[in-house]
Amino acid sequence: MTATAADINPQALAALLQFYAESGVDELCEDAAIDRFEQSAKILQSRSRPKPQPDAAAQGTTGQQSIAKPPLASAGDGRKSSAPPVLTAAPQASQLTIPGAAAFEDARALAASANTIAELRAALEGFTGCNLRHSAKTLVFADGNPEADIMFIGEAPGREEDLQGMPFVGRAGQLLDRMLAAIGLSRDTAYITNMIPWRPPGNRTPAAHEIELCRPFIERHIVLAQPKVLVMLGNVASKSLLDTDKGILSLRGTWMSRKAGDAEIPALPTLHPAYLLRNPAQKRLAWADFLSLRERLDQIKGS
Ligand code: URA
Repeated sequence: MTATAADINPQALAALLQFYAESGVDELCEDAAIDRFEQSAKILQSRSRPKPQPDAAAQGTTGQQSIAKPPLASAGDGRKSSAPPVLTAAPQASQLTIPGAAAFEDARALAASANTIAELRAALEGFTGCNLRHSAKTLVFADGNPEADIMFIGEAPGREEDLQGMPFVGRAGQLLDRMLAAIGLSRDTAYITNMIPWRPPGNRTPAAHEIELCRPFIERHIVLAQPKVLVMLGNVASKSLLDTDKGILSLRGTWMSRKAGDAEIPALPTLHPAYLLRNPAQKRLAWADFLSLRERLDQIKGS
């Protein structure tokens, strides 16, 4: 007989949930397995039914080309090879949207034209070249104190951040708040943003072209905020802002430097709080990094 929640007393249930949480279990599963492949095949099938195409001239320009996902064909040796992409006139949500050169140019020009943080936010609000903005609900720009000595840069908003329009407000954000508090910081004394200001669908890792497209904005953001110390949270921010292929586990905890305009800013890569939620035993590494951060901030204050 299968036990249900009603068969377990509340204390035992709470202890069980705590055990799961501490073990890094953050997803609930159904008793019966769900065939996600079958589900997505059905969705794709319904999407591939022909839809009326709006007049291409009425689409305006986003600097993007819409590329219908190429069908996968067997290369004969077991590998998959793809047929050349088919260019279509109008982008549709179900299609992969690759930004054209104009979108990158637009991003650079818009970011460079911003002379204040408020202008940068407005520039991002007006930037239509990134496909992610079409699936996200809100622009997640920044939170905290833009005048702070320290600026934290994460990867991209998740579901909660997308709903609230604020970075790091979900579970990972709550852990970040506790980590900040542990070294005497808060959102009044730290500035917090992300590499990418729109939630990638399903919280997937942002694609390389999405990171490159948003790069001028985060680079300008750093120049305008002028922090004395930068902290990169996780792989995406660390690799991208430190221009390295090394992974976060080898980068973390080593002070580096990031150029921002004329300034060289001390920069510390560290583990992302979402990773720490999944790997609680690694919190000791993050703690060592945060102690080093505290020390550096104290030196700056004392100098
Ligand atoms: N993860 C991030 O990298 N950023 C957020 O804002 C939330 C989760």
